[in-house]
Amino acid sequence: MLPLVPVPSSVRPTGGAPFVVTPGTAVEAPPGAESAAAVVAAALGGAAGFVVPARRAGPPDEAGRRPARGVGPLVVLVLDPTLPVDGDPGRLRETYTLAADEAGVCLAARTPEGLHRAAATLSQLLTTDGTSVVIPPVQIEDVPRYTWRGLSVDVARHFLPVADLEAIVDLLAGYKLNVLHLHLTDDQGWRLDLPSRPELAARSSAGGVDGDPGGAYSAADWSRLVAHAAARGVAVVPEIDVPGHVNAALHAVPALNPDGVAPDVYEGVAVGFSSLRSDLPETVPFLTDVFGDLAAMTPGEHLHLGGDEAHHTPPDEYVRLVGAAVAAVRATGRTVVGWQEVAAAPLPPGTVVQLWDTRADTAPVVAAARAGARVLMSPADHVYLDMQYAAGHALGQDWAGYVELRDAYAWEPAATVPGLDPAAVVGVEAAIWTETLRTRDEVMSMLLPRLAAVAEVAWSSSADWEQFRERVAPHAAAWDRDGLAWHASPQVDWRR
Ligand code: ACM
Repeated sequence: MLPLVPVPSSVRPTGGAPFVVTPGTAVEAPPGAESAAAVVAAALGGAAGFVVPARRAGPPDEAGRRPARGVGPLVVLVLDPTLPVDGDPGRLRETYTLAADEAGVCLAARTPEGLHRAAATLSQLLTTDGTSVVIPPVQIEDVPRYTWRGLSVDVARHFLPVADLEAIVDLLAGYKLNVLHLHLTDDQGWRLDLPSRPELAARSSAGGVDGDPGGAYSAADWSRLVAHAAARGVAVVPEIDVPGHVNAALHAVPALNPDGVAPDVYEGVAVGFSSLRSDLPETVPFLTDVFGDLAAMTPGEHLHLGGDEAHHTPPDEYVRLVGAAVAAVRATGRTVVGWQEVAAAPLPPGTVVQLWDTRADTAPVVAAARAGARVLMSPADHVYLDMQYAAGHALGQDWAGYVELRDAYAWEPAATVPGLDPAAVVGVEAAIWTETLRTRDEVMSMLLPRLAAVAEVAWSSSADWEQFRERVAPHAAAWDRDGLAWHASPQVDWRR
């Protein structure tokens, strides 16, 4: 069994000799596929210990898309808009095929994103025959189950520098996850410097929970992160959380407070005590500015406006304020994303409602979907990866229960909300909240191995826990090689 996670739709070992990576191996790719070619070349070269060049492909040969036998040890990337694999248009974007034999390796997809998914598979196929790095002879056809496969990272409670987020992006891409959602603002900090509102990061980013050091991303940091993600086929979805979770904003902008008096910075971990006010003249300009800046700084389709746990906002006021935030996002031309509480407000069709709290009444989410919303599945009891693995775990919380590896794997996104049309589910997103997590290693040890399980739930159309346990076991060696902290869940016989 090949150790592929997430498991592809179809894997056919074809027999014969493997492809051997040699000092003559090169990667060839057409215009538009340079970033995937760079990822493939780096993976091959990193494993083999010598430089594998990536170069532009010449015109396709008449025999088809496979490299002709005997032309040399090539890995060829192909952009093929007719790729004949079933699926709806959204899923076809990331569909790919991979064929490897002694003569060559061919990765084909309709889009550069699809080639990035193929590159992730290729990286997991690299193995050694004792002397050389080899790729086993195989034919793979693969199509994702869901188009949105993400991870939400809270950089507000504890700040993570760009280099840490880049390492997380690399991990996401390696498991075919395609969204990095960043929770950029909360009561404890404002983590993105916005050109129209420099006072937000200037006044409200110095610290974090327990007075730990804070930080904020400059515009240059943000561009670097977004570019790093784009070069791996990962979209960044930024979140500014309103109308609750806003103490950092209230601290930085006195006019957002009814008495004009800014509250102190907040270093605790309570939720639900802060709120915007719809009756203040500063509120709508604030929303317009911050979402306008966010859109200008971030390519992509989606902006996340938060909306969760606004316990200090009366229900009618909540609807007004979410309405104002929705209007500010729509004015940028982007699609709104919000945590499940936003289902209480009128939402434009196509809004993505992110389910997280399965303890709450989910009827409003079902109603929002009937009115045209899509639902992103982040049930806390399965994919909140800041939950402890088991009682007594040194890091994390337990309010949603313990989440062992099998809990992150064995759940069904389409059955999570009773009465929800399965066709309304746009995808699956894990989340990691950082009240208790301070460093890259602490975050990684909560992500791994569970993120691999969530990735398979999001990508693969079939689930088999016993098989997953075996396929994921050798990934520990890759995490060690890449210097990633991980938790040795007792549910797997890890191979290092
Ligand atoms: C959340 O966990 N408050 C979205």
